[in-house]
Formats: sequence, structure tokens, C-alpha cells
Amino acid sequence: MGRDVIIACDFAGASETFAFLDLFRGEKPYVKIGMELFYAEGPSIVREIKRRGHQIFLDLKLHDIPNTVKKAMAVLSRLDVDMCNLHAGGTVPMMEAALEGLTRPDGTRPLLIAVTQLTSTSEERMREDLLIDAPIDRVVMHYAENAKRAGLDGVVCSPLEAGKVHEVCGRSFLTVTPGVRFAGGDAGDQSRITTPAGAKALGSDYIVVGRPITAAPDPVAAYRTCVEEFVG
Ligand code: C5P
Repeated sequence: MGRDVIIACDFAGASETFAFLDLFRGEKPYVKIGMELFYAEGPSIVREIKRRGHQIFLDLKLHDIPNTVKKAMAVLSRLDVDMCNLHAGGTVPMMEAALEGLTRPDGTRPLLIAVTQLTSTSEERMREDLLIDAPIDRVVMHYAENAKRAGLDGVVCSPLEAGKVHEVCGRSFLTVTPGVRFAGGDAGDQSRITTPAGAKALGSDYIVVGRPITAAPDPVAAYRTCVEEFVG
């Protein structure tokens, strides 16, 4: 499986999203649709972006009882997305149920990726609020191993964790990594950041890039720079 750049389409609605995608002529970037856009526009936006020929990572981070997640995943699978995700905190049985739900009658399915601990969760909050005493890196790797054991395809993580995840879970276990910025670019609210070339060197399989592309004066040029640095 080759490396790819996924554009985080963090737009409030369909018109902004299509105005953005219309800038691309010929190229069909892989796009990530998150909760904001999906809850605003519903499944129709997924169908329309798919119809236009893009691959889609549907970032809805499911976390519920196994039966509910299994049924929800079956619906997402019928939407023909290419990648979707859940919280590894839902435990191994939930992840196994999700995979079952995601698998189509012909045996194909979208990639399924786990969120370990959200990057917004500090070690202190984990200890105080979640009563998890282990160091956060240990927790992240343990959740990655659980995801692998459940049969998932990979995890969302920082590019800085990608090497360790591959060491623990194997090279073919995918690392999907946000937190990418161009050298000299604005970090915004991201703290542990890497350039696209840095993410490549660290072994990321997919980079998820939002504002460095969507807020660039020339988004198509910014996307091409990302692809050249990360894939080329
Ligand atoms: O604009 P920016 O490049 O920071 O966008 C990164 C995208 O990746 C956003 O959609 C953000 O929600 C998502 N993300 C993240 N960090 C995580 C998980 C997801 O930045 N740990």
C-alpha cells in the first residue's frame, strides 16, 4: 500500500467543501470528512464526493457497545468509504464487532483505523479523569497492539510515534498521522508537528493535512508540495 496525502476537509458545509474541491482539476485528492461536515450534511455529501472520484476517510471515531458499532459500521461500509475509524478505548470486542459490520458480503471492506488516546488528552487527565496510571506512551502502544489483535489495519498517531508503532505492531500496520506543517509554516493549535518530508522519514503511511492546504493562498500548489515531499 502506497503512502498518500489525505486533505482534512474541515468545512462547515457542502458549498465550502465543493468550492474547495473544484479548485482541483484532474487530480482527485484523498479527503477526510469529519464530524462537523458529516453531521451538517449527512451521507449525501459522502456519496457526492465519492461520485466525483475521491477516496474518503470518514473520521467519525465510533465508540459504543459492540452491537451498535457493528450495525453503524455496516451502514458506513455501504456508503463505500475507503477508511473509517473508532476509539480503541471501546475494547477488543468492540473493535472485532466493528470489523464484522464493516465487511461487505463480497468480503471487501474499508480500512479500519483506531484512535488510541486523543492527542488532547494529557497524561495528567488520563490519570485523574480516566484512572489510567501507566505512562501515556505505554497506553498508546498497548491500544495499538489491541487494535492489531482485533484485526484492524492501523492507528491514528503522531508522526513522531509512527516508528514505534511499526516496531511494536509490524511495518504493514498503518500509521495515519495528523500534525503536519510546512517548514516555517504556522503551527496553529498543533504542538508536536513534522513536515511532510519529516513524516515520510519517520515512516508515516498517510499524512492528514488540513489548514496548511485548505487555508493556503494556493491550495492546489500546497497539496502538490505535500505530495512531492511525502510521496515523491
Ligand atoms: O488543520 P490541521 O492540519 O491541523 O488538521 C488536522 C486534522 O487532523 C483535523 O481534522 C484534526 O481534527 C485531525 N486530527 C488531529 N489530531 C489528532 C486526530 C485528528 O489533528 N490526534
